[in-house]
Amino acid sequence: MSSTSRRAPVAACILAAGKGTRMRSRLVKVLHPFLGRPMVVHLVDAAFRSGVDRVVTVVGHQADDVRKEVESAFPGWSLGFAPQSEQRGTGHALQVALPALAGASEVLVIYGDTPLLQAKTLALLLSAHRAFGHAMTIATFIASDPTGYGRIVRDADGKVLRIVEHADATPAELALQEVNAGMCVIRGDVLEAALASLTPHNAQGEIYLTDLVARFAEPSGSDAARGVGAFILTDPIEAQGINTRAQLAQLEEVALKRLRLTWMDRGVSMQDPGSIRIESEVDIGEDTLLGPNVQLLGKTRIGQGCRIDAGALLDTCELGDFVHIKAYSVASHARLATGVEVGPFAHLRSGTELGERVKVGNFVETKQARMGPHSKASHLSYLGDCDIGRNVNVGAGTITCNYDGVDKHRTVLEDGVFVGSDTQFVAPVRVGRNATIAAGTTVVRDVPEGALALARSEQRLIEGYYENHRKPREEKKKAAREAARTGHPTAAATAPTERKES
Ligand code: UD1
Ligand code: CA
Repeated sequence: MSSTSRRAPVAACILAAGKGTRMRSRLVKVLHPFLGRPMVVHLVDAAFRSGVDRVVTVVGHQADDVRKEVESAFPGWSLGFAPQSEQRGTGHALQVALPALAGASEVLVIYGDTPLLQAKTLALLLSAHRAFGHAMTIATFIASDPTGYGRIVRDADGKVLRIVEHADATPAELALQEVNAGMCVIRGDVLEAALASLTPHNAQGEIYLTDLVARFAEPSGSDAARGVGAFILTDPIEAQGINTRAQLAQLEEVALKRLRLTWMDRGVSMQDPGSIRIESEVDIGEDTLLGPNVQLLGKTRIGQGCRIDAGALLDTCELGDFVHIKAYSVASHARLATGVEVGPFAHLRSGTELGERVKVGNFVETKQARMGPHSKASHLSYLGDCDIGRNVNVGAGTITCNYDGVDKHRTVLEDGVFVGSDTQFVAPVRVGRNATIAAGTTVVRDVPEGALALARSEQRLIEGYYENHRKPREEKKKAAREAARTGHPTAAATAPTERKES
């Protein structure tokens, strides 16, 4: 702690060392994605947004992966990690975090599997703690079914005495409906001594964080601790932990409903909102319209006045204003400037960059493809590893042959190029400004500015083909059908077949 800081820093400690056996997964529970981000990242985010200065995460199972995810989501933020190689209880988790929490005036403890927890709720818990000056403030709620939770034991005056875990509770205690939500705030100066006094003398043989409550409720010696406060949550769903995949799906749906309402409040229109998926890091501009079954994933950013039609999926894309994504188009890691039109049924893959008012039509696939303003590829094309200038018209059925079996090569089409239908560009190849490619051409060499490239076999003509070849065969077939129907063979049906073509 520096002597110039206004106040001692406030730290959060996120307990995320457990495996999460009931998820039945190779992935540790806190790394399971919740609306597109690992659960633990949601909690680090909520902690920082509640106003804490530093976040310490207790890591155990897949510690390196958890650490990497948190570090990459919060580069440059004040982060700490405390390894807990053996999970000996929530109190033990906080004990191993002590060195990383040194100097904190207050420690906000959060469990790593409650991704619905809101920053504003944590901020309220912190202010309740400060307002009453207790040694510890716990968050509680009234549960209709308290099974599994620690019960809050109060005296006749309502003063909090202790928390008794479900496994250790008497029948009378099991009947208590006020339960421990899991998050709490503890004064930094009394934390270390109190943690040192915890013992694993309970049904589960664990060091319980919740035993701190009894310790602070009856201060002794030089603790100077002043009791325990309880902050009763009005929206207990926020404290809901995830243990199974079914709970993950349920809570994700709750979060999704809230997110849709938030975006509607901010001026986004939705058709059949219940069918729309929007992940937590997505950003959407005013007056944008989302059709049914749209999925906006990852870090997708959408400008104002856009239209995203039914069934479109956008993953980490950047869209300017007034972009129109037509039905069932899929785009990933693509950037689209103002006024671009895409689809229906288009596939924009990573590294696609479309300039202003570009049009990409149905059954067009792009990858590492840059298209300048006002260029068009309206139908049935593969455009991979290419730089396309402005005002270029790419005809139907155009294919960039970018892969020679070993390496990828680029195709360059300069401004104003006109590409006729059914063209192949065998890369690497460059087509100069205002050049024209005739339909059906396989372009294997560079085309100079303004030239016409034409490469297709010469057309042959056979006069009288219908009269001499097609018509006799058609008539014979017709007669045979007639004979089969009436049972009377006609002369035409029994005549020798003429099938040789010239
Ligand atoms: C805990 C509380 C209980 C409360 C409930 C709310 C204790 C003793 N009990 O019970 O009062 O009602 O949460 O959901 O705290 N963890 C570690 N290291 C450990 C043990 C746990 O990092 O050694 C982490 C887990 O990964 C998890 C969190 O702490 O994220 C909570 O642990 P868990 O075992 O689920 O506690 P509960 O039995 O649910
Ligand atoms: Ca739990």
